[in-house]
This record gives sequence, C-alpha cells and structure tokens, in this order.
Amino acid sequence: MKKNVWLIAILGALTLVACQNKPKNQIMKIEKQSFGKLPDGQEVSLYTLKNQAGMELKISDYGGIIVSWTAPDKNGKYEDIVLGCDSLETYLKGVPYFGAIVGRYGNRIANGKFSLNGQEFTLAQNNGKNALHGGLKGFDKKIWSVTTVEGEEPALKLSTTSADGEEGYPGKLEVMVTYKLLKDNSLKIDYQASTDKPTVINLTNHSYFNLSGAADVLSHEVVLNAPKYLPVDETLIPTGELREVKGTPFDFMEKHTIGERINDTTDTQIKFGGGYDHCWVINEKADKKLLSVATVYEPTSGRVMEVLTTEPAMQFYTGNFLNGTIDGKKGVKYGKRSGFCIETQHYPDSPNKPAFPSTVLNPNEKYETTTIYKFSAK
Ligand code: BGC
Repeated sequence: MKKNVWLIAILGALTLVACQNKPKNQIMKIEKQSFGKLPDGQEVSLYTLKNQAGMELKISDYGGIIVSWTAPDKNGKYEDIVLGCDSLETYLKGVPYFGAIVGRYGNRIANGKFSLNGQEFTLAQNNGKNALHGGLKGFDKKIWSVTTVEGEEPALKLSTTSADGEEGYPGKLEVMVTYKLLKDNSLKIDYQASTDKPTVINLTNHSYFNLSGAADVLSHEVVLNAPKYLPVDETLIPTGELREVKGTPFDFMEKHTIGERINDTTDTQIKFGGGYDHCWVINEKADKKLLSVATVYEPTSGRVMEVLTTEPAMQFYTGNFLNGTIDGKKGVKYGKRSGFCIETQHYPDSPNKPAFPSTVLNPNEKYETTTIYKFSAK
C-alpha cells in the first residue's frame, strides 16, 4: 500500500516537471497605444506585437508603418534594426517611406501615365516627371483600419478602400495587408486586393534595414538570388532590357558587401542610381512560387536576414538619397546609405511595358502576394 502511494507521488512529480518543461503555447497579447493625431484631429495608434522568442514590432495604422522591429544578434541581444522616427510629427513632416506600405503602385511609372484597355490614365508626377510609390497621398499616408489577431503568432490585419480614381488610378480597390509575427522570428506579410474595374497594382513594404546600428550599411554582406536585373534610364525607369548581372557590380549571386562596388561609377547604371537603386529579377515566369530571394549578413552583430517572396522581382535600394536631414530615432540623423531596402514587387513601369509580367488586376480576380523577412544570427 505504502509503495503505491510513493509510486503515485513520484509519477505525479514527474508529470509536473514534464509539464513545466514543455514550451507553453502562450497567447501573445497585442498592445495598442496612442501615436498622436493628424492635423485634422484623427487619432493615430501604435500596436506592439511580440513573439515568445523576444522579437517585437511596433506598427502604426498610419501608413501601416513598421516603426520599430527588434532582432537578435549572435549573443541573443534584441535590438531595433529598422530606420524610423520617434514621433508621428516627424513622419508627417515627410520621410522617404520609412517602413510603410507602398501602393497602389510601388516604384515608378514613366511620365505619370499609362493606358489600360485603350483608356489613358494620368497620375501625379511626384518624382521628377515620373510617378512614384502611389502618388501624393499613397497608401503610406492613409489611416488603415486594424483588426488584431492575438495568439501564439500575433497578427495585425490592416485594410483600406481606395476610391475609384484615387491618385488617378481606376477602380475601387479593397486592400488588406496582414503582418503576422511567427515563432521563428519571421514577419510574414500577406497582401490581398480586389477591384471593381480593371486597374494596376504593385504593393510592397518599404522598411529600411540596418542590422548593426552603425552609421552605414556598407559592410553588410548580401546575396541576391537573381541572375538578371533591369537597367534604367537617368530617371530610373527600366529600359525594358533584362540584363545579366554576371561581370557587373550588380552580381550578388555570391556574397559581396554593399560597399565593395557601390561607387564604381565606370558602370553607368551605378551612376544613374547613385549606387544601388535597381530592380533585380527573381522569377521571370512570375508564377507566384515562394522563393528565398535574398540573404543579408552583418558580421559584427552576426545578424542574418533572409527574404522570401512570391513576387517576381525586388528593388534593392541602398539609401543613396538619405542625406542627414531627417530626425531619426534617438536623435540620429540618417545619412547616405544608413539603411537598405529590399522591396519585393513587380517590375517598375510594368503598365507601360507589355513585355513585363502584368500588373493588371481585373474584377473577379484576386491579388495575393506574400513576403517573409526571417531573422537569425550566427
Ligand atoms: C526608390 C528610390 C527612392 C526611395 C524613396 C525607393 O523605392 O527606388 O529611388 O528614393 O524609394 O522614395
């Protein structure tokens, strides 16, 4: 009898220990706080998403902006790895799309014009003579409606309706962007849209990364799984050619630091971009396969960022136009090349380039793309 009692007690204790060691499937709460007000009085919020590993993102409903994003270094230390501002006021003064959702059409459309089914549409020429990133009030400046999804892998669902004719684009567009923070330190971004008239669409996220916190990103080591890129004219509109990267400063098939060839102005394309500001072709078939397209490693912190996407291309931009005039977080003035962007997307100026994979969205079609930014350290 006594033996049985002991046995039960031991079994009970063992079960207790086993239960305590089992990782808990914790529901990760999403906090909401005020991020200030727009000049017209509209409230702006900031949402905090965390996972159990320790990654934390602060995302605003203004522009869907990722304001901060922490990732672990090789010692497990989580630090902010994106450029941004401490206050809404600074974002409102005008920033080059830090962390924002970009649409309806990310990147450039030549001369702010395109034709669709025989009808010409005119957009704002907000980048020299070209249209850039959705116009004067693109998706980066909208207040999005937010639904929070708490769970082991918390998510924010941001939605908006873009009216027919908004910024010159045809069709009433319903858009939903989901930011989901995964357990493995990935952020999965799903973009969805539908329209009531034929239109064009090219959504992306415009986060500027700096994996070390150093003044520039020149020593970051980059691999881009893209054997071709799109050369551009002086106004950064693709010429239409798909050029092999082999033998040029654009070859990142094997790792190279950002800084190694960035000032090689004997290459006209480097000259036109003021460094890297070009679209690399990932998937010419544009068959929406999720592919691992880029890896960036920063040697001092050991941080690694991998990018996966269903998009056919990515704009690799090395912050060439940053010039120290913006009040960044913690009083830092972001200088030239203090951050880099990997904006997954369709090719720039596709609405005017019939040979490029189509960016047309028709009624009864669904626009669906996915991009994942995954962090680790070594
Ligand atoms: C463009 C750059 C531009 C930056 C900020 C990037 O996507 O390629 O040319 O300066 O966005 O607008």
